[in-house]
Amino acid sequence: MNIKQTIIAFAFAAVALPLSAFAGGSAHLQSANIDLHDKDSLQRGAKYYINYCMACHSLKFSRYNRMAEDLGLTEDEVKENLIFTRDPKKDKPTKIGSLMENALDHESAAKWFGTPPPDLSLVGRSRGADWIYTYLNSFYKDDSRPFGVNNTVFPNVGMPHVLMGLQGLQKLEEEPATEGESKEGHHAAPKFVMERTGVMTEDDYREVTRDLTNFLTYVSEPAQLHRKTYGVFVMIFLAIFFVFAYLLKKEYWKDVH
Ligand code: HEC
Repeated sequence: MNIKQTIIAFAFAAVALPLSAFAGGSAHLQSANIDLHDKDSLQRGAKYYINYCMACHSLKFSRYNRMAEDLGLTEDEVKENLIFTRDPKKDKPTKIGSLMENALDHESAAKWFGTPPPDLSLVGRSRGADWIYTYLNSFYKDDSRPFGVNNTVFPNVGMPHVLMGLQGLQKLEEEPATEGESKEGHHAAPKFVMERTGVMTEDDYREVTRDLTNFLTYVSEPAQLHRKTYGVFVMIFLAIFFVFAYLLKKEYWKDVH
């Protein structure tokens, strides 16, 4: 193989490997379509997270004040609306500079749920946005499970459907196909029908889960909010640098020809 062939082979591998891993995934994922620059969505996501998830899932690598800054909230807004925990040692409300931890007793939690609820600081990276979004939309009625629900992307999950009041409870109409799979290994999307409605319309519930997914994606890599701007500066720098490099090259080589 010459150099050119080697480079082409590498480029192919770089594209094909992740694609094949993706196609081989076991569940049909819906596209979360999140927007990390949508501050309103991130703020709503933070609010839902703290109200519905934080009691079980800490975010132990995030601090409230950093979140406030990134999401465009004032410290007072965060103190008044988003900090519900107390510092057990000082018996005072948790400070704005504290890590986003909860008071969950992991041993009892492991007994209640079969497994303790994991910290979700990194779930945006380990699972990805589409997985989280699909997961939050894929709880369905299953009387054989301890909390009466199961999940198509996380079979036999230990988590109750904590957003059932909002979404309602759906039934799985068709099992996701495991046999008749297409050649690429994609599974058919499961079909749900709503059995008991919640207080939200289907669209509003999807917005809630999109905001939650957006927030968890931000949490897993807060620098993402800034990195895109650096990217633009780097491109501009490279463009200018290229011009000088080119002129310099012409200067060096002008006597050679
Ligand atoms: C009552 C406790 C409880 C609450 C509240 C709760 N969860 Fe969970 N969650 C769990 C448990 C327990 C698991 C572990 C399930 C397992 O491993 O079987 C889990 C697992 C997860 C996972 C999968 C983690 C992984 O990668 O394996 C995600 C994502 C998740 N929860 C998101 C949420 C979100 C978002 C909310 C708020 C809307 C929430 N949870 C509220 C108990 C809870």
